[in-house]
Amino acid sequence: MKLLVCGGAGFIGSTFVRERVRVHGDELTVLDKLTYAGRRENLQEVESDIKFVHGAIEDPEAVAGAVGDAEAIVNFAAETHVDRSISGPEEFIMTNMQGTHVLLEAARERGLGYLQVSTDEVYGSIEEGSFTEESPLQPSSPYSATKTGADLLVSSYFHTYGLETVICRGSNNYGPHQYPEKLIPLMVLNALAGDHLPVYGDGKNVRNWLFVEDFARGIGHALLHGAPGEVYNCGGPDECDNLTVVRRIVELCGRDESLIEFVTDRPGHDRRYSLSSAKLGALGWRAQVRFDEGLARTVEWYRDNAWWWDPIRSGAYRDYYERHYGRALKA
Ligand code: NAD
Ligand code: TYD
Repeated sequence: MKLLVCGGAGFIGSTFVRERVRVHGDELTVLDKLTYAGRRENLQEVESDIKFVHGAIEDPEAVAGAVGDAEAIVNFAAETHVDRSISGPEEFIMTNMQGTHVLLEAARERGLGYLQVSTDEVYGSIEEGSFTEESPLQPSSPYSATKTGADLLVSSYFHTYGLETVICRGSNNYGPHQYPEKLIPLMVLNALAGDHLPVYGDGKNVRNWLFVEDFARGIGHALLHGAPGEVYNCGGPDECDNLTVVRRIVELCGRDESLIEFVTDRPGHDRRYSLSSAKLGALGWRAQVRFDEGLARTVEWYRDNAWWWDPIRSGAYRDYYERHYGRALKA
């Protein structure tokens, strides 16, 4: 297939790009603004097989210049970190909502397919059981509210204009190339460095962990086999509370639990996320990587790839970290 992949230099987008190029031989153009989270390094293994355009999805000219003869747009581009959305929601509104609108218009003008990559966070928190695609949308953070707004806009383009849209909502992803502001890579790099491990609140918040390659396959599956206008949940095979995740990382890194520190909780912190993936399962998708295996692979990747994270940990990320956690990272 010929695809325009927006946000393809980020964590999940670049995993999807590698998978589509290597396994399916797709012809891809990546459009990416290269924010702090977007990195050309993430695409270096497929650099000669793709076209890369540096630009923002909220810029109609950049989108028009990148779209070429694509048959469909797959949109990963987003501001993605809940903590950053709490301290500064503006960019989330611009990229996640306005940017999605620009892409939908580009797809509508040209009659292209459209896949929106979304998140379980649009459903809010659930104490027991799992969310289905029919569950009400009750986002709690500016991040999840803007992702919800984008999803609703996508659905409106199906209902109003007949645009062939599919929404794929993933649970918490983890794996290689994830920016270390997110729980798992942050804890892995801090543990390897012997830095403190800041656990929010009581550490009992539960997340439904999905290995990034499984999500990339799930998105491809929804794109090829999903029905227009439908939503597909794509959840991981295992749930785990944060403290247990951090303890496993401590063990895998050969460190001591004394590094763990309980810190002030995130405002509005969702207690538990859980997705039912039965609908995507009925189309033939299944997660292949269990959490224990995926976590060990992830720790090994970060241990072996300091070239990837060293420029991050020694750059602007240090300032972000100090502002957010009120203490400096070890040098
Ligand atoms: P990421 O933060 O690693 O990457 C985001 C990418 O989008 C970066 O390459 C960045 O440069 C690019 N980008 C940001 N603003 C842009 C703009 N205005 N124009 C063009 N490009 C822009 O994010 P990720 O974790 O790979 O998430 C990708 C998508 O998957 C997002 O839509 C996110 O909401 C969704 N999602 C993420 C998770 C998760 O656990 N990380 C789970 C479910 C769904
Ligand atoms: P995160 O990776 O930010 O993903 P999300 O909030 O989108 O689920 O956080 C995952 C969980 O880890 C969440 O419950 C918040 C918690 N957390 C910490 O306890 N400490 C941290 O330093 C971070 C970044 C997250």
